[in-house]
Amino acid sequence: MTVALETIVNLSKRRGFVFQSSEIYGGIRSTYDYGPLGAALLRNVKDAWWRSMVQYRDNVVGLDSAIIQARTVWQASGHEDTFTDPLVECRNCNARHRLDKLDDPDRCPTCGKSGTFTEPMQFNLMFRTHTGPVESDENMVYLRPETAQGIFINYENVRRTNRMQLPFGIAQVGKSFRNEITPGQFVFRTREFDQMEMEFFCRPEEASRWFAYWQEQRLNWYLDLGMDKDKLRIRPHEEDELSHYAAETVDIEFAFPWGWDELEGLANRTDFDLKAHSEVSGQDLRYYDAEADERFFPYVIEPAAGATRLTFAFLMDAYHTEEVGGETRVVLKLHPHLAPYQVAVLPLSKKPELLGPASELADRLRRHYMLEFDVTQSIGRRYRRQDEIGTPYVVTYDFDSLDDSAVTVRDRDTMAQDRVSIDRLTEYLDERLKLI
Ligand code: GAP
Repeated sequence: MTVALETIVNLSKRRGFVFQSSEIYGGIRSTYDYGPLGAALLRNVKDAWWRSMVQYRDNVVGLDSAIIQARTVWQASGHEDTFTDPLVECRNCNARHRLDKLDDPDRCPTCGKSGTFTEPMQFNLMFRTHTGPVESDENMVYLRPETAQGIFINYENVRRTNRMQLPFGIAQVGKSFRNEITPGQFVFRTREFDQMEMEFFCRPEEASRWFAYWQEQRLNWYLDLGMDKDKLRIRPHEEDELSHYAAETVDIEFAFPWGWDELEGLANRTDFDLKAHSEVSGQDLRYYDAEADERFFPYVIEPAAGATRLTFAFLMDAYHTEEVGGETRVVLKLHPHLAPYQVAVLPLSKKPELLGPASELADRLRRHYMLEFDVTQSIGRRYRRQDEIGTPYVVTYDFDSLDDSAVTVRDRDTMAQDRVSIDRLTEYLDERLKLI
């Protein structure tokens, strides 16, 4: 099912996934804070990406580079000159728009007037700030607009210290910043966001093969995490869409409520970046192949995804409504690896003889799972809450548990209930949560 944007925005706010940033001061446009559930989901998305890109591979290593880098990095990479979007301003209502994103390039979508746009100007998206107490041109720096350059400038450090041989990758997860002209669609396009990028260095003649390989790997990652295959597609970029560094790019797109749009990009960046940094820094960043006794600049295949954008897409994909007993049940069918809580423990009543052992059980389980212990409201309402926040298994501790040392475990998706001995509980849950 395709869910309305409003529905996800409301759920996010109501259940504490995402809040408007600086809300108590009226909010700041297109900037968001992740609440307890959103922070857990976002972290799980990043962890799932890291496991599949770094942990499960012997030729990819991780990096955590600085957000503020030398300005020369962005001069060498071409961002200072070309990381721009075409900006037009409406002379009638003063609204500013990104020309390449308008349905009709002559009509202002804010006031509806035609022929009122100024000539387009190229607007650089990098945020500027200054290091130290004096604001001068010499100490002007940028907040990074992509995590990728942190990888390129550390290429030689990582290769040497970790004895990496081609082909190999360097992966990084972290904040990036872009002064977007038209942020919007909730957390889809924001000015501050999390990226997950991997630069895969290979021999130039092998670049096409690795480009195809990474497309398949990345698409399978979404499918393995349960995303509906009908909501995913791969779209090659047209020649005029390519970034200044890319020879070839495809986007993995998701069926958002407003139509197909980019989830992540995969680019063949050729040897553009290493060559550029070699030229400007004066350091030889060519790879030496001892067997063939040759030096060359490796090519780079880059899968680049936005963690915040993916978190949003996973939320949309997981949202389902069902009719149960004449009522509408909202259920987030999140993969257990992504769900904010994997398990909830609910004592059937607040009576002390149940509360004590149930909370002891919850404390033991917390060592294994992200867990919520919930004692509020009726059991039915507590089940509904867990469905709505995507908790795959709910463990109910009832009066029989005192005698049979067993609990009822309810499956979020089927709503089936099993009676499970407490001794076997982690084994039972691990199997179903795909932890073993
Ligand atoms: N290093 C290549 C690069 O940054 P990109 O296509 O500009 O490529 C990669 O960005 C991904 O980062 C996008 O596919 C998207 O998921 C995410 N992203 C980019 N700009 C974003 C924004 N303003 N807000 C949220 N996510 C963004």
